[in-house]
Amino acid sequence: MKVCVIGTGYVGLVTAACLAEVGHHVIGMDDDAGKVQTLKAGGLPIYEPYLEEMVHRTVVAGRLTFTADVAEAVREAAAIFICVNTPPLPDGGADLSYVELATRRIAEHATCRTLIIEKSTVPVQTGAWIEKTLAVYGKRPDGEFDVASNPEFTREGRAVEDFLHPDRIVVGVSNARAEQTLRELYRPIVDGRFCCPIHSDCRQDRAVPFLVTDIRSAELIKHASNSFLALKISFANALADICERAGGDILQVTHGMGLDKRIGRSFLQAGIGFGGSCFPKDVKAFVKIAEQSGYDFALLKEVDRLNEQRREWAVARLKQVLWILRGKRIALFGLAFKPDTDDVRQAPALHIARRLLDEGAVVQGYDPQAATKAGQALPALTLCPDPYAAAAQAEAVVLCTEWPMFRGLDWPRVKAAMLRPLLLDGRNALDRDQLTALGFEYLGVGR
Ligand code: UDX
Repeated sequence: MKVCVIGTGYVGLVTAACLAEVGHHVIGMDDDAGKVQTLKAGGLPIYEPYLEEMVHRTVVAGRLTFTADVAEAVREAAAIFICVNTPPLPDGGADLSYVELATRRIAEHATCRTLIIEKSTVPVQTGAWIEKTLAVYGKRPDGEFDVASNPEFTREGRAVEDFLHPDRIVVGVSNARAEQTLRELYRPIVDGRFCCPIHSDCRQDRAVPFLVTDIRSAELIKHASNSFLALKISFANALADICERAGGDILQVTHGMGLDKRIGRSFLQAGIGFGGSCFPKDVKAFVKIAEQSGYDFALLKEVDRLNEQRREWAVARLKQVLWILRGKRIALFGLAFKPDTDDVRQAPALHIARRLLDEGAVVQGYDPQAATKAGQALPALTLCPDPYAAAAQAEAVVLCTEWPMFRGLDWPRVKAAMLRPLLLDGRNALDRDQLTALGFEYLGVGR
């Protein structure tokens, strides 16, 4: 199928490359001519496992191209994905101006019957606004547009795998024609009929659930899913506070909870809070959406408050032990908002670094992938080439991102580099007994 993807950020690039990988002819469009040049030259503006080789492979195969020309992009496209940015507004709501702009351009330049698919994270009722905008600005006499919602659930660091092997595909449509187009688009993924670039012996034992709903329900599924995952994390973090006060061990508590299939073990890892470009933004946006519908989403406001509080928890914990932070060197191991990504958007590590810098501490950070972006976001942060350099003369090490490499470090060497062997494991990712035996003052979360 001829597919156009408008917006080649995280969501757009993964969508474009994966759909080309499973056989469709895809053109990626972006206003950023520099980014389009990079992509055409085979470079990638983001770090995401498997994506670079996939983009290269599908470009060479002639199934993926890029342009900054919207007319060229939408020409003859049977389906057009809107994957533009929906940044947060000061009131927490989502800024939909890029979605509107993309819609007006499609209305102006589309040359055939086409399905417009919202894939960006958008508030409920956005699809209705897209339909209205197409009707008002559509140049096509017969207004041959269908609109659908197809929320994405990919995680950074595993986006290609999540797109090709999703738990489910959700499509919100208002007619059978739109449903048919989306079924055709996703058939190779639903049936597992594609050559998997990730798993050599990829055998799919069941068809991927293909959930068809109305457009508004699909839009709500996205915000509800992210908000519920954020709620699970904040619940675990609240439990960690109780464990610290009552003497339990959060790892044992969440393990015991998670063995109940109704609860599930995933997303119960307590720590220094959730970050990234999705959870913090989507929780606030969903509170706003609910408010605009006349519902006070107090539960979700608390999820947000608890998460803000987590960042302060780490600074308070250090003060409890180090007393004065001014003039002390603090090492941060991990700056990305989570492992396997170079993304530092809303990263708890950077929030903590800013707070420590405000307190007059010297903050020395190390991250295997995200250092450049962290330095751009927080120039006052001292970036170090390796964890040992970051630990030099430090009075504490705070583990902020659970990159697997930190478990395998030469910890005696870390200890020797430090002024005081204080370790705050903000992700409960390290071996407490091993480190205590080495002479570290080990502080975990909720244990
Ligand atoms: C998330 C959703 O998982 C994905 O479905 C959606 O499409 C986009 O948003 P992502 O932002 O990439 O994906 O990150 P995710 O892996 O979900 O982690 C989000 C944050 O929660 C990270 O900061 C992570 O460290 C934190 N987290 C995650 C916890 O603190 N505890 C957990 O148990 C799990």
